[in-house]
Amino acid sequence: MLTFTAVGTYLYQLLVQKIELRDDDRLVDKVVLARTLLSDFPSLDALSKSPAPFKHAVHGSDGLTLRLIGPDGRLLLQAPARANAPPLAPLHNVVPITRTPVADDVHKQSWAPDELRVLNAEGMLGDTAGTPVQIAISRPRSRHSEFLRHYLLNLSCAVAFGATLVAVFGFLIVRRGMQPLHLVISQANNISTHRLNTRLSVERGPAELRELAAAFNAMLDRLEDGVQRLSGFAADLAHDMRTPVNTLMVETQVALSQPRSNEEYQAMAASNLEEYEHLAHMIENTLFLARVDNAQLAIARAMLDARAELRRVCNYFSGLAEEAGVTLEIREIASAAHLYADATLLRRALGNLLSNAITHTPPGGRITLAMQASLQGLQIDVTNTGEGIAAEHMPHIFERYYRADYARASSASTGLGLAIVRAIMQLHGGDVSVASVPGARTTFSLQFLALN
Ligand SMILES: Nc1ncnc2c1ncn2[C@@H]1O[C@H](COP(=O)(O)OP(=O)(O)OP(=O)(O)O)[C@@H](O)[C@H]1O
Ligand SMILES: [Mg+2]
Repeated sequence: MLTFTAVGTYLYQLLVQKIELRDDDRLVDKVVLARTLLSDFPSLDALSKSPAPFKHAVHGSDGLTLRLIGPDGRLLLQAPARANAPPLAPLHNVVPITRTPVADDVHKQSWAPDELRVLNAEGMLGDTAGTPVQIAISRPRSRHSEFLRHYLLNLSCAVAFGATLVAVFGFLIVRRGMQPLHLVISQANNISTHRLNTRLSVERGPAELRELAAAFNAMLDRLEDGVQRLSGFAADLAHDMRTPVNTLMVETQVALSQPRSNEEYQAMAASNLEEYEHLAHMIENTLFLARVDNAQLAIARAMLDARAELRRVCNYFSGLAEEAGVTLEIREIASAAHLYADATLLRRALGNLLSNAITHTPPGGRITLAMQASLQGLQIDVTNTGEGIAAEHMPHIFERYYRADYARASSASTGLGLAIVRAIMQLHGGDVSVASVPGARTTFSLQFLALN
């Protein structure tokens, strides 16, 4: 609407200007003609006797009024002789006889309620004295107003029609273009957690919509994957909780089936305590992972002395290692190394790796802690001798509740230790990897990014 109106206004103004310019030019032409005619008259008398040529000059050019004024200020002639002719005002901006008038010499003069376009110029009779005669030509401005009003009306109609046409076509085109969107909406309405495998299909739609559908489908892929993992996680959790709870239940049922001595009850309570500890361990680990998943875990990083940290966990586990009959050592590192990490989480990760290593190293074996600067930052390796991990388990051991050997896994094992190590490393922006030579050794490596 605005564009059409702007174009219409511009066209209208242009037309008004052009018409005015053309009319001014005509005034100039008439003055030049009047000068020529004047030069044919030998005297003022002759002029007042035969004014016909001047009447002819302005005949048919409607609205024009030509006046000739003598040297004494007397009106010699007015053509055409109309009653409603504009009054003769004192002459301004008179073009001297030495100069040919141009359109710029035309000026306006108010004549209520309208306005006049006026051109005044000097002329000269053809007598020997060269008697000066003033030529005054005027034209009311409103002469074209009827025509212009008509034009404006037509233009307004065209503008309104054009705008309506654009609005109608625009509406139809947009509605047609949006049609595939309704399809997308109805498809999206059908998606729920039970039906996450539905995918949007927009083959006929515009490219933008196809891109949207592709992005939406990619999002659904991620969601489906997440939901599947979540429900798997819940199923695994239930399954793993059931075993210790069942054991507790059976033990208690057996104990209650007949009267027992105090010692027997104590033995049962002690055995139950083990299961409770296992359950508590599992719940604590699961909660920790859930907090990491929900990004609720704030990590408090600080500059740590990596060597001191390694020594600390080593001391902590030395008793367990001794009990298991394995050697636990740190391969000495010459340079001091700094680590930007959360001390508690670092100890937890190293602790999980060391407790795994102690469990899986046969008596007489050896566990080595080592540290080296890597390309990205700092790498801590935990290596233990032993049977290693079979290739088929390698892709899964970092998964929650995954245990390589269910049959041999101790009752205290939850299968969450390595999942926690990986979560901790991801919180630090680093990663954990494993390399194993079956029958020889296993190495877990923690990669910390430099100053990150
Ligand atoms: N150093 C290792 N050598 C051989 N196998 C290992 C080693 N570390 C881990 N594994 C295998 O990876 C599996 C997963 O380890 P993870 O620490 O996640 O669970 P877990 O030790 O069984 O239980 P948790 O750590 O919760 O007590 C283990 O069950 C074990 O089979
Ligand atoms: Mg473990």
